[in-house]
Amino acid sequence: MINVAVIGSGGREHAIALKISDSKLLNRLFIIPGNPGTKSAGKNININADDHQSIIEFCKENKIDLVVVGPEKPLVDGLADKLRLNSINVFGPDALAAEIEAHKIFAKQLLTDNHIPTARAAKFSSKEFNQAEKYLADSVYPCVIKADGLAAGKGVIICSTFNQAYAALDSIFKKRIFGSAGDNILIEEFMTGEEASVFAITDGKEFICLPAAQDHKRIGDNDSGKNTGGMGAYAPAPIVTPELMTQIENLIIKPTLKALDSIGRKFIGCLYAGLMLTDEGAKVVEFNCRFGDPETQVVLPLLEGDFLQLLFSAAIGELDKTSVKYNGGCSVCVVASSKGYPDSYEKGFIIKGLESKIDDVIIYHAGTKEVDGNILTDGGRVLGITSVLKTNDLKTAKLKAYEALNKIHFDGMYFRKDISDKAFSHI
Ligand code: AMP
Ligand code: GLY
Repeated sequence: MINVAVIGSGGREHAIALKISDSKLLNRLFIIPGNPGTKSAGKNININADDHQSIIEFCKENKIDLVVVGPEKPLVDGLADKLRLNSINVFGPDALAAEIEAHKIFAKQLLTDNHIPTARAAKFSSKEFNQAEKYLADSVYPCVIKADGLAAGKGVIICSTFNQAYAALDSIFKKRIFGSAGDNILIEEFMTGEEASVFAITDGKEFICLPAAQDHKRIGDNDSGKNTGGMGAYAPAPIVTPELMTQIENLIIKPTLKALDSIGRKFIGCLYAGLMLTDEGAKVVEFNCRFGDPETQVVLPLLEGDFLQLLFSAAIGELDKTSVKYNGGCSVCVVASSKGYPDSYEKGFIIKGLESKIDDVIIYHAGTKEVDGNILTDGGRVLGITSVLKTNDLKTAKLKAYEALNKIHFDGMYFRKDISDKAFSHI
């Protein structure tokens, strides 16, 4: 029997904790720090995810056998390294392997060195403003400018004209809108196609891919307006046919894991490939070193078997590829966000309707907090209202998710109305 600690407090961590709580292998489950939703899966522990020393002490005192790290920041900051030094098993990469997300230039170099399909790109440092300007003058538009470092999901600027690109260059290098995350940039070719998210669960050598999902990154319907952390997702994505999945595994996931291992950066955890499905095949947009949010909320409910066995076997270097399989169902998650998100927004509004139970629906908490028995809004993305069906009937799953959403209310509640519509042209 295994004692588990999940690190994080978002909708993704609620989904991870809930799935782990189904496992026959589980003894005790803690979520550090968790949210009001994760209380139904395990015990919330009020330690900040940045307080690595306290997390290590907690794990030792409570005989934790496995730590599952949700967000990228603790991984990039070396939490997994420190836990491993203390002989605690971790699902999540060391800081060096997490650079695949934290440094886009490192990721791009790894991809191009190993002939893994991705957009062509050139790199520039802030000392090379004039060279970057000249490169932009000779570029084809649209083009994409990316800050090298972590910029809270905002570090990518798509530029339709030279003037826009020049303004982006000026704001990153001179006005330093991304701080040191923008000390170096990539100027990248624009790729056309639909996007898909694929999670590869790996012990560093072997891997399995979970059903593909599609995120909805923009704030507005029909993918309009600003980029967000993700306004909804659905899975499985029919655009990722079995043949395409095999191509993704052989041409992208396998060589990436091998390349990381060969340079001493073995990746243990969830390698999340953000892909563009172009006419020339799947190409890498970006890698993340963790599960995606909100894709996790729709992918995990589609797994039958023992998810904890999958994570534990990966963490100890003996991946059990048979521990889970796709159950034939489908899932749609619609994010309810605060008015104003992804810009500034108010918090502290009472959420009503959470008690209404609807069959085949899970309400994941993200930005919520509990005060005097009330659940209040406490973030940009507040809830993930998620339908889960045993059959692959996305139209019904969409209807169910929105039916459940209509029973929930808070001041300023906003949501997209077209989550999963992308799928219907492929069915
Ligand atoms: P990233 O943070 O790298 O995933 O980029 C955020 C979003 O920008 C992606 O989900 C894409 O929608 C878009 N994007 C990034 N790179 C490109 C590219 N080379 N071509 C087209 N769109 C891109
Ligand atoms: N859904 C996008 C992300 O997790 O980065």
